[in-house]
Amino acid sequence: MSQFLSAAVFIAKKAGSLLRENMERDVHIEFKGDIDLVTEMDKKSEKMITQYLEEQFPSHNIVAEEGGGIDQGSQYVWYIDPLDGTSNYAYHIPWFSVSIGLHKDGEPIAGVIYHPVNDELFTAEAGNGAFLNGKPIGVSHRDKVEDSLFATGFPYYVKKKPHRVLENFKRFLLSSRGVRRFGSAAIDLAYVACGKYDGFWEEGLKSWDTGAGILLVREAGGSVTDYPGKRYTVFCDTIVASNGKIHDEMLKRITI
Ligand code: IPD
Ligand code: CA
Ligand code: CA
Repeated sequence: MSQFLSAAVFIAKKAGSLLRENMERDVHIEFKGDIDLVTEMDKKSEKMITQYLEEQFPSHNIVAEEGGGIDQGSQYVWYIDPLDGTSNYAYHIPWFSVSIGLHKDGEPIAGVIYHPVNDELFTAEAGNGAFLNGKPIGVSHRDKVEDSLFATGFPYYVKKKPHRVLENFKRFLLSSRGVRRFGSAAIDLAYVACGKYDGFWEEGLKSWDTGAGILLVREAGGSVTDYPGKRYTVFCDTIVASNGKIHDEMLKRITI
């Protein structure tokens, strides 16, 4: 394991434990938008992670959801979601994660997603495969949308721009074995990587949501593009992640 991945693992587990220990507490909540929450724990987790990574890698850039970032013009960028699944957390629903991805020159090179309640640690490094708690994982083998189980999520702007979100939800709901909406995009991506979901799509995600998960999916043998089919980068507005075998069929069904 590289020094980058071992640092990310160490701090993702530490932040995840902090979140888990406080999950039954009534944490202070603020609103970033009408349905976009932020709790005191998002901020505490982010501070813990950014402080540690800044100490370990003082020349690197950091992009973190709650604003704790730093731009030093480095080719290395850490994308950090300190608490993915904030609404679940605020409602004491035990489904949330910490996501940390490191990119070099725009390409993901290391990623960690930690689901503290299940104690599931997903890790990947470019060229070295993807792992769950140290054991190699791979995407599923189903090759038809009609036999597949999907995950998706809804962007915070859904009330203002519902059409495409609802249309895509309807299309997959009516053509597959089912669609899940668990509320943590990072876990959704990790679960595609380990073959639990066959595919995932969402619009409006940000770099911190996907920066680690896309590496997990690719290293596990899957594909990640945007809705039109272009290779996904963290600057894309839309994402389709799959086991690869159903990817073209997913793209044909999706409304761009
Ligand atoms: C959200 C979750 C959710 C997804 C939203 C994200 P947050 O992240 O990943 O599953 O549907 O689009 O914004 O706000 O809990 O970090
Ligand atoms: Ca998120
Ligand atoms: Ca978050």
